[in-house]
Amino acid sequence: MIGRLNHVAIVVPDLEAAATLYRNTLGAVVSEPVPVPEQGVTTIFVELPNSKIELLHPLGDHSPVAAFLERNPRGGTHHICYEVRDIRAAIEHLRAEGVEVIGDGKPSIGAHGLPVVFLHPRDFCGTLIELEEVASQ
Ligand code: CO
Repeated sequence: MIGRLNHVAIVVPDLEAAATLYRNTLGAVVSEPVPVPEQGVTTIFVELPNSKIELLHPLGDHSPVAAFLERNPRGGTHHICYEVRDIRAAIEHLRAEGVEVIGDGKPSIGAHGLPVVFLHPRDFCGTLIELEEVASQ
């Protein structure tokens, strides 16, 4: 069901410091900060030859990554995102398998303007999973 690894998201306490680390120390192609208010984050996209890293920092008062940063003040891996071809079919399949789809179970629009859902870490080896519908995968 799952396709390619779309991105790994890392919550960071200082976006500029993290961008410098990826740009200068690792030599990656790094975007400017992009506010994504509907997801409560500011994102910097790191382009790799085969995938992306997303550096996340809380945006606004009700950011879903604020509590994570409190628990992990130096930052940490927050979620990994897999591509799926048909997100509604994926949700239906996962629910039948007993997996918890976070929220109301309906896709929302993620940082790339595509439908996404999140799956509970308890069902996936302690790792928060994002599924993103990428029709052309
Ligand atoms: Co993500």
